[in-house]
Amino acid sequence: MALRNIRLSNDEMLRKKSKPVTGITQSTLTLLDDMAETLYSQNGLGLAAPQVGVLRRIVVVDVGEGIVELINPELVEAEGTQNCYEGCLSIPDVSGLVERPLRVKIKALNRNGEEFFAEGADIAAIAFCHELDHLDGILYTDKATVIKNNEELEREEQENEARRKIMQARRERRQANGGGNRQ
Ligand code: NI
Repeated sequence: MALRNIRLSNDEMLRKKSKPVTGITQSTLTLLDDMAETLYSQNGLGLAAPQVGVLRRIVVVDVGEGIVELINPELVEAEGTQNCYEGCLSIPDVSGLVERPLRVKIKALNRNGEEFFAEGADIAAIAFCHELDHLDGILYTDKATVIKNNEELEREEQENEARRKIMQARRERRQANGGGNRQ
């Protein structure tokens, strides 16, 4: 296994449409292994082949439940919507607010060339949709309604957490005071 270089967002490779895999060869399997290793080395949740300079319809995703390898993936079902900040290994230091389905079902081939269905909800649905977009040359920044620096986003999260603790403390105080409105 080997680490592959990740293309960054100004690379025109990321804007091209990837071609279907027509036969699974040793180089396909090596690519899958390398993509997983590269993904883990970067602490990412998903990686698509064009991000490592290969214009083939292959993605790997791991949102904490083990690696999912998808060859020639197709979205076959989607339901609900969610709005969440997502990032991309090809676009460092920022995240964007994107609307995605809440649940998806993907049809794909596994590394043995067998068809299977992968289902994902919440963060897995986001990761699958994000990686499938890469295969069509689409970046999340094309769809994001807001893009923020990760430092700014982290600061906001800490502020929200602090606010939440203050509200919680007030609620507890009110309860201790017998539910009245005395402050
Ligand atoms: Ni990405």
